[in-house]
Amino acid sequence: MDLGKKTDSFERCNQGYSCLDLHRLWRILSLKLQIGRWLRSILPQENPGLLAASGSVAAIKFGNLCHCFSEWAEVKAVATKASLHFIDRASLPKDLKLYTDEEEWSSWGKIGDSVLHIELRRWADIMVIAPLSANTLGKIAGGLCDNLLTCVVRAWDYSKPMFVAPAMNTFMWSNPFTEKHLMTIDELGISLIPPVSKRLACGDYGNSAMAEPSLIHSTVRLFLESRPQPSD
Ligand SMILES: Cc1cc2nc3c(=O)[nH]c(=O)nc-3n(C[C@H](O)[C@H](O)[C@H](O)COP(=O)(O)O)c2cc1C
Repeated sequence: MDLGKKTDSFERCNQGYSCLDLHRLWRILSLKLQIGRWLRSILPQENPGLLAASGSVAAIKFGNLCHCFSEWAEVKAVATKASLHFIDRASLPKDLKLYTDEEEWSSWGKIGDSVLHIELRRWADIMVIAPLSANTLGKIAGGLCDNLLTCVVRAWDYSKPMFVAPAMNTFMWSNPFTEKHLMTIDELGISLIPPVSKRLACGDYGNSAMAEPSLIHSTVRLFLESRPQPSD
């Protein structure tokens, strides 16, 4: 038995890691991170996903949500005009493309040009609307499409998954319209990630806060990974 080695590792455990060890560990971790990024940039990514935010105060967590998804899938984002009041663009992943209603119109000039909401609908394999405001829920249920987000939804192919995570004041959530609208979108095949109970931004305690971004991400990921694959 090599007692020298044993004592050495015992001392390390006892004394903690030296600066040199930490430096090496740091270099290995950052190398791993760089390789991961490089692989993601050269390999075709699965599940291109469109993340969308509407005008709930919970959109302050949209950056966090985008980070969760972009670690794992190729992601683009759409934001309504109202949601932009809550989204801090600096919190979004650096390479994430965020589309707004402005781009929908500025990218189109004449007949024959591509139409952004149709391109996004073609590109995305999944769509996640988080947060889903009462207004956007009502518009989707009624088939209305007066902005980029609702145009993508109106053009959506419902054989592809779509998830929504509502977030609103409890008075809005308990309004009879909410149940009607949720039933309608359920019939379309849209999956609900239910809201959770907590103190809301307005100070009220309620059961209508958006599920945490990490929960939204894991729900979607679990769904996709447990789907039968073509080769199964
Ligand atoms: C400060 C503030 C917070 C709001 N929070 C919410 C919310 O949490 N949920 C919601 O459904 N609407 C909320 N609203 C109302 C929406 O922003 C409003 O209905 C808006 O038209 C939604 O537009 P959109 O669905 O196109 O994003 C809030 C409005 C304000 C001014």
